[in-house]
Amino acid sequence: MATLQRIRNHDLIERVGHWVHLLNLILLVLSGIAIHAPSYNVFGSLDAARMVHFVDMYVFSFIGVFHVYQFFALGKWSVAGPTPRNLGGTWQTIKYYLFLRDRKPAYGKYNPLQIISYVLLFALSAVQAVLGFALYWPAGMGVVVGAFGGLMGLRQAHYLVSWVFIAFTMIHLYLVLTQPLRLTKSMITGSFWRRTADRARQGRGQY
Ligand code: HEM
Ligand code: HEM
Repeated sequence: MATLQRIRNHDLIERVGHWVHLLNLILLVLSGIAIHAPSYNVFGSLDAARMVHFVDMYVFSFIGVFHVYQFFALGKWSVAGPTPRNLGGTWQTIKYYLFLRDRKPAYGKYNPLQIISYVLLFALSAVQAVLGFALYWPAGMGVVVGAFGGLMGLRQAHYLVSWVFIAFTMIHLYLVLTQPLRLTKSMITGSFWRRTADRARQGRGQY
């Protein structure tokens, strides 16, 4: 017989971290656009936009370092790290998203494609931070500036990477909204209710 079961999906640190990161990223994108094209400035002046960017780049870096702490000191690696166990069923998941299979394979907290894309996002965040700090301290990080043929090339690279973040966010939002709404709500409340009989159909086997 099916019974209702409360699934604790995201702990407080994860939820606060996720939404702070979103807010911070919006400010970084808006201030970045204002620096790139001053006529699209919602901060009033270029100085204000630069100030917002320079504060938020430290918040961005802190969130990155905190993720490392979460993964390796708080144990998130076991459920969200790209381990052979968490990546099991990758090919079946690809087939599901290509409409070649109608059931999503059972997986742990995140499906293998989520894990791969989050790892790539983390790597890209590190790249963006290195490019950004090289723009901030061009003399101290001359090697990076040189690798891009000078400050203009470096600015262009930092600018292009911004669009990958914007694209990731759009695709992420689309994929999130194709899931049952209770999963999105659980990124706010921390948990959702599920009938135990749904378990096999839903994935998230270990939960
Ligand atoms: C630790 C992370 C980051 C650092 C250290 C950083 C640093 C910087 C610096 C120093 C500038 C040049 C400011 C100026 O010329 O006045 C800049 C510009 C910019 N940043 Fe960042 N940033 C970071 C993250 C981001 C992120 C995550 C985004 C967007 C997703 C972003 C988007 C931009 C854009 C669009 C520009 C303008 C580039 C141009 O001149 O065309 N930044 N950033
Ligand atoms: C546009 C608004 C956004 C919404 C509504 C949203 C919603 C969600 C939801 C519902 C989840 C949980 C997915 C699951 O449990 O399978 C999630 C996870 C995640 N989201 Fe977002 N998200 C947004 C923006 C972003 C942005 C801008 C980023 C980063 C650039 C991001 C990065 C992540 C990551 C890395 C996870 C994995 C969960 C974790 O370990 O913290 N999200 N998001």
